[in-house]
Amino acid sequence: MTTALIPGSFDPPTKGHLDVIERCVDIFDRVRVAVIANPAKEPLFTAAQRIALLEECCRPWPTVDIGSFSGLLVDYAQAEGIEVIVKGLRAITDFDYELQMAQMNRHLASRVVTLFVATKPEYGYLSSSLVKQVARLGGSVEALVPAPAAAALKEAFAT
Ligand code: PNS
Repeated sequence: MTTALIPGSFDPPTKGHLDVIERCVDIFDRVRVAVIANPAKEPLFTAAQRIALLEECCRPWPTVDIGSFSGLLVDYAQAEGIEVIVKGLRAITDFDYELQMAQMNRHLASRVVTLFVATKPEYGYLSSSLVKQVARLGGSVEALVPAPAAAALKEAFAT
């Protein structure tokens, strides 16, 4: 049985994230989506809120479960017995940093492989950071994030 590990900040989850998760559901026996619990940047949503949002969004996919980690990603992967990390690539601008992380992770844990999934072209410009900026300034994000995330953003930026 092969499990894919999809790590990220998910602050909040976007439709681009869900696209990558759905692709993995089609390919892998199981999918673990893991929220980083102590990122260097201050998240808008707590880890518990981001986990709850992902649980709601991933409910249609019974092979997906949600977890969280702090520390090194490869340590979490190995502790969970997972050897495949999947990252979404939106554009060539993601590639440099993602390749660097994949190679560092390979150096740290040679059995753990990183695979890249190309996101849907219509989500190529989409990021959690931009979505938060748009929502903070009163723009519409309904087309960009799943409904639970749109509601959470509305509440977070309510004046
Ligand atoms: O959604 P993000 O913020 O792009 O996710 C980045 C994440 C969490 C996948 C990345 O920062 C990460 O793997 N952090 C864990 C720390 C780690 O393992 N660092 C060394 C590997 S390069």
